[in-house]
Amino acid sequence: MAEQFLKIRNANKSFTKEGNSLPVLNDISLDMYTGEFLAILGPSGCGKSTLLNILAGQNSLDDGSISYPDKPTKNLNDRNRIAVVWQEESLIPWKTAYGNIEFSLIATQIPDKCREEVSIKWLHAVGLKGFEDYYPSQLSQGMRKRVALAAALSTHPHLLLMDEPFGALDVYSKLQIEKEVVRLWEQLDTTIILVTHDVQEAIALSDRIVILTQRPAKIKSIRENPLPRPRNLDALYGNIDFHNLVRELWVELTQQD
Ligand SMILES: Nc1ncnc2c1ncn2[C@@H]1O[C@H](COP(=O)(O)OP(=O)(O)OP(=O)(O)O)[C@@H](O)[C@H]1O
Ligand SMILES: [Mg+2]
Repeated sequence: MAEQFLKIRNANKSFTKEGNSLPVLNDISLDMYTGEFLAILGPSGCGKSTLLNILAGQNSLDDGSISYPDKPTKNLNDRNRIAVVWQEESLIPWKTAYGNIEFSLIATQIPDKCREEVSIKWLHAVGLKGFEDYYPSQLSQGMRKRVALAAALSTHPHLLLMDEPFGALDVYSKLQIEKEVVRLWEQLDTTIILVTHDVQEAIALSDRIVILTQRPAKIKSIRENPLPRPRNLDALYGNIDFHNLVRELWVELTQQD
């Protein structure tokens, strides 16, 4: 029986702008299990990034709760244990690929003397050997995403949040980095929440898929992913079960009330 990792209960959030209230999250309740890979799909503007920002401790709920039932020492302010790959570019432009990863380790428990070794290890793990001294402007978009992924994973997060991390990449680069994510996740005990608008990506990578409604986001459905692991991502496009699931979820996502 999988260990319960994260419990979200009756989460509500509204923003106020010029005196008007904009409801964004509507009564979201969700459980996650240790080591699970969860994908969240929802229409643009429904509240996906808002939910992730709250899980990352960058914003707060109006009411409801987020808790880690079996690990009471882990809370939303325990930043060492939550890492995020943001929707936007998030690397520090005046630091090299190596420097960006090393910087992400500063706030962690990893001792100073180990930072160089850990940074290099993760840069190589995401396939960037030889690019240690490159600045973000000297890297391709896909490489910058790899650095962001390495920076996030180097902190050994319990929870990795990814907000449409590969949305801007071309199909080939996206597939390559998705394979890296799965390979690295299989070696770690990290629990992952991936927000994406890409139904195929959600199915290729996740254990379960949550579909949100239009704003204010409510949970429309939660689907177990029936595709067995390990998955050969290259071969999924020839898999009829994969295509049937893509079609079903696409209909569910686009048929909003
Ligand atoms: N700080 C803020 N102040 C006011 N409104 C906000 C703020 N942040 C987000 N919103 C509003 O909340 C709604 C949800 O935004 P959010 O970024 O969570 O959507 P999303 O589902 O991530 O969309 P996308 O798929 O386009 O990234 C939007 O209408 C947005 O304008
Ligand atoms: Mg977003």
